[in-house]
Amino acid sequence: MNKIPFGPTYEEMLHPSKISPKIREKALVAKVNNELDPINLFNITWKNEKNEVNKIVLPKELTGVEANIVVLLGKNFPSGSHKVGPAYSTLIEGSVDGEITPGEHTILGPSTGNFGIGVSYICNLMKYDSIVIMPDNMSKERYERIERYGAKLDLTPGTESDVILTLERTFELKRNPKNRSLAQFELMPNYRFHRHVTGNSCIEAVEGIGNGRIAAFTSAVGSAGTIAAGDQIKAVYPEAKVVALEPYECSTLMNGGRGQHRIEGIGDKMCTLIHNVLNTDFIALIKDDDTVRGLKIIHDGIEVLKEQGISEEKALLLKESFGPSGLCNIIGAIKIAKYLKLGPDDNVVTIATDGFDRYDSVLEDLERRYLETEDFVLRRWFNDIFRKIGEEDVTDFRSKERKEQLFTQKENDWLKFGYEQSYLDAMKKQEFWDNEYHKIEKYNDLIIKMREQK
Ligand SMILES: Cc1ncc(COP(=O)(O)O)c(C=O)c1O
Repeated sequence: MNKIPFGPTYEEMLHPSKISPKIREKALVAKVNNELDPINLFNITWKNEKNEVNKIVLPKELTGVEANIVVLLGKNFPSGSHKVGPAYSTLIEGSVDGEITPGEHTILGPSTGNFGIGVSYICNLMKYDSIVIMPDNMSKERYERIERYGAKLDLTPGTESDVILTLERTFELKRNPKNRSLAQFELMPNYRFHRHVTGNSCIEAVEGIGNGRIAAFTSAVGSAGTIAAGDQIKAVYPEAKVVALEPYECSTLMNGGRGQHRIEGIGDKMCTLIHNVLNTDFIALIKDDDTVRGLKIIHDGIEVLKEQGISEEKALLLKESFGPSGLCNIIGAIKIAKYLKLGPDDNVVTIATDGFDRYDSVLEDLERRYLETEDFVLRRWFNDIFRKIGEEDVTDFRSKERKEQLFTQKENDWLKFGYEQSYLDAMKKQEFWDNEYHKIEKYNDLIIKMREQK
């Protein structure tokens, strides 16, 4: 049995308290002192040093709804977003399976940004060469970080909505037997990470809040990894509703829409292979500029938030915690709380994939597009965005016809990449997804055995 790079199991990512105390302690020190120390792999978790889930319960003065909206914070993951989790999981599974070897293989990361940042970071720690394939029009903070972590960039034309070009380019590069792709849209470690680590962390995050259960989970879909948390939430709370969010301008799952939009990280114009559409109960559309203007209010409108009754302490906590897709998830959570008529006992959970640190350029662009962004404008936007979120643009996708629509979309997107119809047909049963999920036990055991080889 070969030794593999030293990193955590799925179970240790969910419960870092199960990591050997010496290693945990070293990892927590490295988190502060040296982000490129490989021991940071043991910081891939939603939990803080006290083993509590990093989260914010949004002030009701912001949401305007009675339900509790709980947001898990991805910015505390190494590299600044939870996408490092799927990147690590895919690489460690490939190493365990003997398909990927350091020094021999170059890792490809097709991405619109955060997954690319995660791949370059993980490859730096685990000593793999890497190439990140992404559109050439994303925020400049992303390219800088990827290069800082040592990956090469291979840019394809376009923006967020042109991710299909990155897939085609990856398909080409994969012809070279030296290259191995961490294909986030296709490979099940992304599903496994989010169902196990994110899903169970969501369940823990609502303990002691409202009725302690989850009524709804909202997730703006990119690779549709994060939304797999909904599978675990439903396994524990079958009444929970899983809501996929899409940009209003690029409503691919909803009705095949394929426009350009401003919400980096989501709306990739496809139904990804790893998306378990059986569990997507509703699809809601969120206007892209609402997410960017909402971000401006939260980041620069502290006084406006205070006028609404939000304490300075809470406002400062919110300030750095989200990017545009986090705002999309929050707006979607408020929308669904209204749509489902949820009350004070009910919890809606959602995710902030990353924090503000990579979006200065998005607000600079907003300043260029709007003549004024003084507090009196932000006050008006607060009303227009947060107070006027309505029940419109939510569609029930639980019917057989709607599921068929999503299956067909998936077939259109993936048969052309060589996947068999029989594989796509198998995905139409929940059993397929549960079997994939239970492979976690095998990988937990193998990771422990193989990392301890001499
Ligand atoms: C900022 C941001 N938000 C949301 C997502 C979507 O998450 P997922 O790919 O798990 O669907 C991504 C994915 O890269 C992202 O970078």
